Amino acid sequence: MQTQEQLNRIQIGPETLSLPQIDKRGTNVSSYIIRGGNRLLGDVKVSGSKNAALGIISAAMLLDGPCWVDNVPDIADLNVMLEICRALGAQIKRESDGTLYINPCTITTCEATYDKVRSIRGSYYLLGALLGRMNRASIYMPGGCNFGTRPIDQHMKGFESLGASVTIEYGKINVEAEHLRGEHIFLDVVSVGATINIMIAAVKAEGTTVIENAAREPHIVDVANFLNTMGANVRGAGTDVIRISGTPVLEANATYSIIPDQIEAGTYMLAAALTRGDVTVHDIIPKHMEPLTAKMEEMGVKTEVGDDTIRVYMEPDQQLRAANFKTMPYPGFPTDLQPQTTVLLCVAEGSSKMLENVWENRFQYIDDLKTMGAEIMVAGHTAIIAGSSQLTGAKVMARDLRAGAAMVLAGLAATGETEITDIGKIERGYENFVKKMRMIGADIARIVE
Ligand code: EPZ
Repeated sequence: MQTQEQLNRIQIGPETLSLPQIDKRGTNVSSYIIRGGNRLLGDVKVSGSKNAALGIISAAMLLDGPCWVDNVPDIADLNVMLEICRALGAQIKRESDGTLYINPCTITTCEATYDKVRSIRGSYYLLGALLGRMNRASIYMPGGCNFGTRPIDQHMKGFESLGASVTIEYGKINVEAEHLRGEHIFLDVVSVGATINIMIAAVKAEGTTVIENAAREPHIVDVANFLNTMGANVRGAGTDVIRISGTPVLEANATYSIIPDQIEAGTYMLAAALTRGDVTVHDIIPKHMEPLTAKMEEMGVKTEVGDDTIRVYMEPDQQLRAANFKTMPYPGFPTDLQPQTTVLLCVAEGSSKMLENVWENRFQYIDDLKTMGAEIMVAGHTAIIAGSSQLTGAKVMARDLRAGAAMVLAGLAATGETEITDIGKIERGYENFVKKMRMIGADIARIVE
């Protein structure tokens, strides 16, 4: 456990700490070892938003000139997206200060059939971008976390409304249009992906497109702001009605900075409360965190909100109160914080309910939590958490990105040692996770197999 004096000497940013590694055969990093019980203390800086960056890099493929994008997180999903865009012919360079230079004018194909397209979900945004750019696109079916069925019918409905024909064959989605024309589109479900994809495809369409029942997540606003900075005309992002006036040419030649990652920030805030710690999360937009801060205060967690910081703190022996949650599209409680929050409810006093409203099957990690001593019963979309559990260390798996982050949090609260396997899933979406956690006092290490 680091002394306060050591913690105070630590600067914000990963480069001050070297990582302890247990090297068995020195090829692949494969799991984390966590020793629980430390109170998390100190400062952590949040990276750029994964889900905004995936939309923005795809939207950049639409432009008629180069652009510069900064605050792009160095995470596996983004690096795969950059590889896919380079395979289309785009010039992409990371400059010395981390800013990305992107020039899509050298794109030579509308076929994104690079194998890695199947490994991430965000690759589906290339459908909207290439359709908008070349009136044609063909990409492999996207991948992503397994939450049961993940239909894309609303994306297709939107493209067809704009005048495109859509076919799915041989594992590929093909969209084609002689001419894209603005249209009034009502989404049957509130979908982040469909809202962003249709918005991107409609930017260069003739006339005006209206998307009704649109999703309102912060990353949707960020993609719209990026497009407007590059010359587009998108109004109303962040509300449930978005209006896009077609602009034939997007000059670009501008720089854009991506918003902080709401889900990464929430993960550190929950870790602080779980360990009865005192952590300040930096470089965030507090407004985006309100769905979480409000519920944490209900549970007795103390928070202090600054311009771009939130301090989360508790007394070492303070009890957490039970609470009921239901996940909803923004500004409701984010489903991407559901697993991490369920861990917090495991140690709260009394019984809580977690209702998963967005995804069909997002409780697969609960068996792993039960292995660590949690008492949870799942009935359909509801998990009933008994609370007041003392978690104990065990060997568990990262089932997907956020479930993996939840296992790290469970390990921090558990007595003894926890080993988490398949951590590649976690590093898809958390930049320098181990370094940042160690900076606030977590006892976590990587095992290299
Ligand atoms: C985005 O996924 C995020 N992924 C997910 O985050 C997040 O869980 C989700 O939005 C909800 O907030 C990215 O941004 C890359 P949706 P997406 O379309 O776009 C149904 C993470 O951990 N639906 O908003 O795929 C769908 O089945 C990831 O970072 C249709 O029925 O989600 C679901 O029930 C995991 N038809 C609901 O809508 C469609 O055409 C919401 O899905 C599209 C969606």
